[in-house]
Amino acid sequence: MDQTMEKAQNFLGRVDEGPGARNEVDRRVVSLTAPASVGAEQYRTLFYRLERMRALRPMKVVAFTSAMPGEGKTVTTVNLALTAARAAPERRILLIDTDLRRSQVANVLGFKNTPGLSELLQGECQLAEAVRRFRSTRLAIVPAGAAPEEPTQLLASRRMKDFLQAVRDNFDEVYLDLPPSLPFADASILAAQSDGTVMVIRANVTRTRQVQQAIEHLAGAAIVGCVLNGGPLATGGYLKAYK
Ligand SMILES: Nc1ncnc2c1ncn2[C@@H]1O[C@H](COP(=O)(O)OP(=O)(O)OP(=O)(O)O)[C@@H](O)[C@H]1O
Ligand SMILES: [Mg+2]
Repeated sequence: MDQTMEKAQNFLGRVDEGPGARNEVDRRVVSLTAPASVGAEQYRTLFYRLERMRALRPMKVVAFTSAMPGEGKTVTTVNLALTAARAAPERRILLIDTDLRRSQVANVLGFKNTPGLSELLQGECQLAEAVRRFRSTRLAIVPAGAAPEEPTQLLASRRMKDFLQAVRDNFDEVYLDLPPSLPFADASILAAQSDGTVMVIRANVTRTRQVQQAIEHLAGAAIVGCVLNGGPLATGGYLKAYK
């Protein structure tokens, strides 16, 4: 594994321009497309909020989930990872798309989706091929890869545990874009292996009961707060501590 990771580190020097990349970034990735905007400032606020939590206890692997699909996990995680890479250039930062069913990280970043986590967990590629640097930023990304037949089984596998250990050994901050927690077991499996889990809640859409059920589903995970997404800008996109 050590030798493989060494290759991964070397590979991070390369800019991703492989075939299959659209090279177009979604305009909602404001941390990249509009870094001076009010929206981008919200992600900086979220990043520094996490920083203050990290000062209280180590939190290397942070997972983002929500009760239901479409609440804004991917947009939040991608913006936050890019913000972290810009705010803390001395740190090694990794974004992993663990949503093997409806992967969107590569899509919103105009990045090539394969090979990614799915291929890695099925033994079809090496770690060095799955970990790639995003353009000329400091951010490393493992995209989801092609949708597998049994995503839950892959995410619960020994290989996934070993992969998370390898990234813990080689990166300072790791951000996981999870699937929604109510429909599948995937999110609860991964949240339990993370140091902190953040619930993304779509303002005026997600029902209180759904959030409560999602938190119950995540039993065993350290839920550190929530992001209220899509609210009015004065209140939207902030991280509210539960405890
Ligand atoms: N703060 C926001 N402002 C504007 N549009 C947003 C915002 N957050 C999310 N969206 C849009 O809402 C839709 C769902 O967002 P996103 O893909 O991030 O959700 P998700 O929780 O990751 O969904 P899924 O469960 O399918 O993975 C997308 O079209 C996205 O661009
Ligand atoms: Mg998503």
